[in-house]
Amino acid sequence: MCGIVGFTGLKPAAPVLLQGLERLEYRGYDSAGIAVFKNHKISVKKSEGRLKTLCDLIDNGNGMDSTAGIGHTRWATHGKPSDVNAHPHKSQNGKFAVVHNGIIENYAALKNMLIEHGYTFVSETDTEVVAHLLQFNDDGDMLSTISKTIRQLEGSYALGILNAELPGDVYAVRCASPLLVGVADEGNMIASDIPAILPLTRKILYLNDNEIVRLTAKKVEIFDLDLNPLFREITTITWDISAAEKGGYEHFMIKEIMEQPKALSDTIAPRIKDGDIQLDGVSFDKETLQKFKRIHIVACGSAYHVGVVGKYVIEELTRIPVIAEIASEFRYNNPIVDEQTLVIIISQSGETADTLAALKEARKRGATTLSIVNVVGSSIANASEHVLYTWAGPEISVATTKAYSTQLAMIYLIGLKFAKELGTIDSAAFSEMLDAIKALPEKAQTALQTAPEIETLAQRYAYLEHAYFIGRNLDYAVALEASLKLKEVSYIHSEAYAAGELKHGTISLIEDGTFVVALSCCKQLQMKTMSNIVEVKSRGAEVLLIACENEPFIENHLKDVDHAITVPSTHPLFMPSIEVIPMQLLGYYIAKARNCDIDKPKNLAKSVTVE
Ligand code: AGP
Repeated sequence: MCGIVGFTGLKPAAPVLLQGLERLEYRGYDSAGIAVFKNHKISVKKSEGRLKTLCDLIDNGNGMDSTAGIGHTRWATHGKPSDVNAHPHKSQNGKFAVVHNGIIENYAALKNMLIEHGYTFVSETDTEVVAHLLQFNDDGDMLSTISKTIRQLEGSYALGILNAELPGDVYAVRCASPLLVGVADEGNMIASDIPAILPLTRKILYLNDNEIVRLTAKKVEIFDLDLNPLFREITTITWDISAAEKGGYEHFMIKEIMEQPKALSDTIAPRIKDGDIQLDGVSFDKETLQKFKRIHIVACGSAYHVGVVGKYVIEELTRIPVIAEIASEFRYNNPIVDEQTLVIIISQSGETADTLAALKEARKRGATTLSIVNVVGSSIANASEHVLYTWAGPEISVATTKAYSTQLAMIYLIGLKFAKELGTIDSAAFSEMLDAIKALPEKAQTALQTAPEIETLAQRYAYLEHAYFIGRNLDYAVALEASLKLKEVSYIHSEAYAAGELKHGTISLIEDGTFVVALSCCKQLQMKTMSNIVEVKSRGAEVLLIACENEPFIENHLKDVDHAITVPSTHPLFMPSIEVIPMQLLGYYIAKARNCDIDKPKNLAKSVTVE
């Protein structure tokens, strides 16, 4: 997604802006630009392509003495990647410059209105509308000009704004798109995400929707839309800069795969006290839980795959019907959601547009909403009645791994807590499962030891054109994630299939050499899955089996597969957390063997903040 930075302080702004943009590259972008003050005007430099192109264009900011400015990395939504469509955009009279992350949904109507008032547009972007609208609303007072302008905007946006007549001031607006403020002695910053601010300061101010910020070198002011001043506590970020760096690994993805035991421990341990589960103050008593006739788990991508696991786990534990739904479908399906529904929202970034919209739709229909989010102060976190944070730390790689795993852990904790409150499991089962959850970090650490074996296997599969992942019940839920991991980082076409469904069509695609990964950690369905393995083997497939170690049934059938990877076993409901690890490693090492851009796969963004 787009990245925004802004700085005003006691030193040249350009180098600070470029360093900030560099730390936002992971968000995915196609062009970059900055704007600084020069001779009572605003100087804009921008270019299509990587940040390096911009740095070369402006000699890394050398000679740009301005101590205030804004910067942007653009992920195209309206208008193709190009120099002209890159941000910042200026108003017709050159007085205002704007950078923007999000979508102005009513930009076409505003553009027509401005054209009727004699404005001419040079770009195809929705952002340029904001720049001209500031001029259109300019009443000589910057804050009221901004307030009037954003009242006319519909959609999601974070804005950075300069006014040529107010050199040294940087303005910002947050509305349903991430934006933070950094506070330091040598200056103040705005940015879309924390890594961009850390080189300057660890002191952060989180913003809420519909807030306007005015930064000067020495002061930060926050206002609501009516320009009432707002107070905001400073949060000190405890991440050290290495947490947002690669820490010695070749890619963020492998770093984050290896960080999973710690991420799981950080997420689980604080929630288990005195033999019970405490969900950060989020508690539903038995009467409340009995009110819920259905639970919807709504998310996108890998977070949706966590929802599919959640369906099996929460239904098994609570006997409440659970539906896992894709957010972009849920929001337009006139969902049957009301006061008797609990909607669980899952999102790593907390900024996914479809998921945020689904959350708002659920709330509008009276549902109780509980979000599982990895980014504090994100739009989804702010918009939810109840929030549980995963503490995976910053996840930089576009392909999620540790956030996915910590989301699974949260689902287990929620399901187990609900079951205890409802009395649908006895205390012995509760304790057994609680111990199994506590042991997940250690089991995950053991599963990571399959990495060398998988790296070797990956060389064999690196030049595949197709791959199929099959499984039943929770194995199928993990197959969905395994398939996505492979295709999004290696660009190999891949499909996940419920193993029992293959013979209803897809098995026609299985031929000599077709690569099939069979996940069979679900003990009570092992025989059924083995039958499906035999079916594909008889049609020439090459089968990689993922199973639990020390399983006699599996050991008796190793002759029926070409390769097998075994992982430690745990409670059946929590096996997804363990069996997913070799699947993450498989996707990573195949992509590495194919020399793919693993942390920034083509066409993908870390957070999809547009529809
Ligand atoms: C997963 O590897 C992908 N990056 C993608 O499917 C992602 O899970 C999806 O876009 C949801 O993102 P979120 O968790 O930030 O909402």
